[in-house]
Amino acid sequence: MAMTESGYVEVRNLHRHVGNTVTLAGWVETLRTHGKVAFALIRDGTGVVQCVLAKKEVGEDSWEAGLQLTQETTVEVEGVVRADARSPGGYELGLVGLRVLARSEEFPIQPKEHGIEFLMDHRHLWLRSTLQRAVLRVRSEVMQAVHDFFYEEGFTRIDSPILTGSIGESAGTLFSTDYFGEKAYLAQTGQLYIEAACPAFRKVYCFGPTFRAEKSKTRRHLTEFWMVEPEVAFADSEANMRLQERFVSHLVGRALERCREELEILARDLSKLERVKPPFPRVSYTEAVELLRSRGSQIEWGQDLAGSDETLLADQFDMPVMVYNYPRAAKAFYMKENPADPRTVLCNDMIAPEGYGEIIGGSQREDDLGRLLARIREEGLPEQAYSWYLDLRRYGTFVHSGFGLGIERTVAWITGRSHVRELIPFPRMMNRLSP
Ligand code: 4AD
Ligand code: MG
Repeated sequence: MAMTESGYVEVRNLHRHVGNTVTLAGWVETLRTHGKVAFALIRDGTGVVQCVLAKKEVGEDSWEAGLQLTQETTVEVEGVVRADARSPGGYELGLVGLRVLARSEEFPIQPKEHGIEFLMDHRHLWLRSTLQRAVLRVRSEVMQAVHDFFYEEGFTRIDSPILTGSIGESAGTLFSTDYFGEKAYLAQTGQLYIEAACPAFRKVYCFGPTFRAEKSKTRRHLTEFWMVEPEVAFADSEANMRLQERFVSHLVGRALERCREELEILARDLSKLERVKPPFPRVSYTEAVELLRSRGSQIEWGQDLAGSDETLLADQFDMPVMVYNYPRAAKAFYMKENPADPRTVLCNDMIAPEGYGEIIGGSQREDDLGRLLARIREEGLPEQAYSWYLDLRRYGTFVHSGFGLGIERTVAWITGRSHVRELIPFPRMMNRLSP
């Protein structure tokens, strides 16, 4: 009965094989016995199926092997596919044969409550559990939806380097490493590089891991997270916000369309997602500060919004809210000065509902060579490292805008999970580098 991978039927395809005898391979989730019948739930990575093992059907050897099955033992089973509403996917397998491919030791994660640190220490095994599978399936679908959206919109994907000499965001959260005697940083953003690709392709995006030495232990911060960053030539800040609301609605819509089952497993309130459609509410930074102060926040004009401010603000809306035109001092050097109020810059953050915080940071870019150089000097950034970036303003400068969306925070919100650590297969945080 031994087979190559391609010879096994996948559980998700069982509906095509009703009445037939099929062979599949997978891992045992649970085993229950009732006299001379045993029920095993087997997960093959595409689904879970109930397998019914009757002593008189399978013979002595398979029956004995069946009784010995431990959680996560790898098995190959042969059986007849039957429709059965009580089985997880609606089909069950009446076994005619069972073979243990590899026995599992006592599996550390049992069907009971474990502490989060224990689960995080066993992340390599925790990935197999129902909730974690659902969460990571949604992540995968959302990432595919990212590519599909930009592909359909005519964007060109440009991969930005991970090792870089220029500081993308702020000097305070850089990881650095020795690069043949020079200092290299792990990229905080791909933005500066895709800005360079704009005159070549007009609409571009990058999508990859980014790194921030965040010394904060919050439910919103990872030190390694995935960010998608589009950049568009001849788009101003208003156009940038319109792209963001269409993009985020697309991602949510895709999860609703293709991950219903997962969202149900996660007990997500779908009505909260179903109303996510453009236009999203917009408030200026100045209005946001007034609103927050009237609701008891201590924020002063000029300060960035604290996490608690974001939550308080988001609670006033039932959709993601876009806060635009922050004070210059609260934001990165590359944002364009607001001609109508030079204390502020043409930028926006998007804040997700339900306390998930900022999921997007975006801006129109400073396209004036002199002002950009002045900002680099003002921030005390190493001018030499930006000479190539300044070239973009020397050789045919142009109005352009873009944004970065953090995948883990976005999928945390879509799935309703409270902490970003579950939204990436192997999270990296201040106190976690393993597994
Ligand atoms: O607001 P940020 O820092 O913006 C940029 O990096 C710009 N260069 C983007 C651009 O305009 N091309 O980060 C963008 C998003 C945040 O809104 C958040 O969703 C996510 O990245 N993010 C984090 N996610 C998890 N852990 C962290 N430590 C994060 N820092 C930012
Ligand atoms: Mg930001």
